Amino acid sequence: MQAFIENMPKAELHVHLEGTLEPELSFELAQKNNLNLPYKTPEALVAAYNFHDLPSFLSIYYAGMNVLCTEQDFYQLTWNYLAKARSQQIVYAELFFDPQAHTSRGVDFAIVITGIHKAQRDAQNKLGIESQLIMCFLREMSADSAMEHLLMAEPFVHYLVGVGLDSDEKNNPPIKFKAVFAKARDMGLKLTMHCDVNQQNTLLHIAQCIDDIGTDRIDHGVNSLQDPVLIAKIRDKKIGLTVCPVSNRFVVQSLTSNEIRQMLEHDMLVTINSDDPAYFRAYLNENLIELQNEGKFTEQEITTLVGNAFKVAWLTEEQQQHYLNGLSQYVQNHGH
Ligand code: HPA
Ligand code: ZN
Repeated sequence: MQAFIENMPKAELHVHLEGTLEPELSFELAQKNNLNLPYKTPEALVAAYNFHDLPSFLSIYYAGMNVLCTEQDFYQLTWNYLAKARSQQIVYAELFFDPQAHTSRGVDFAIVITGIHKAQRDAQNKLGIESQLIMCFLREMSADSAMEHLLMAEPFVHYLVGVGLDSDEKNNPPIKFKAVFAKARDMGLKLTMHCDVNQQNTLLHIAQCIDDIGTDRIDHGVNSLQDPVLIAKIRDKKIGLTVCPVSNRFVVQSLTSNEIRQMLEHDMLVTINSDDPAYFRAYLNENLIELQNEGKFTEQEITTLVGNAFKVAWLTEEQQQHYLNGLSQYVQNHGH
């Protein structure tokens, strides 16, 4: 089963580029940029990852990204993730980034997005991994700030496939960004937003995403299972759910394997993803393997989870079908 998962052609739809910053690269960039890290070694840095909920994770995540300063730094970050993803047989990825976490430190928007874009282009040409970029808004910041960043993105809109919403959910409902999302939609961008597990007012937040904003996907969205109306809407509107088992274990002490099985039983388009793999110490294969171990998912169920990611990917139907054909071929040759 492990080899079946590892060698399977896969897609990843929920990964924060800043969450792929490995400790070794942090040290390399800190030295290059003349910054002092408060740790002696990469191992000591990892040992200090003591998060147990969303806010405690976020404070470590934002502190970590201070080493990202130049276009080359963003290039290296993105290249390293895409190379790692390719080594895990990920053939297609949609990448989140958090521009406000960089512009607020004095790093230009253009530097961030150009570095990322060049690495995507090179990885496509040299490694054969396709990727698209999703710009996220930090929900604890104002709707005005989100709108400003959307306007900053206008000259680069061809670098983006969609926009998202992440960071601290408490008292920051999706509806706060209704006008921003409407404008993004007018710019031709797809929409997704985080509804993290067990957050305050999560059912209300999920309903806002669907009914008030008309989201295309929801990141996490696990609590939707508590409401039959939400289950039906997510299924009928074919809203993809990007669930991240190892991330969930850090935030709510569970891999949510029972919930993922229930989503499959409800024919919801649930997908498996890594979220912040450098921090949670698990990339996509490790997420799938741990999930399968705990939930005893069959090859067929794993294939459905992986296939769902291609089905809800922001690609044309022809592109989706191309990847789904590759997956079927793989399962025919390697399934039992
Ligand atoms: N949740 C919310 N916001 C985030 C996360 C997360 O796991 N990672 C990066 N930003
Ligand atoms: Zn996330």
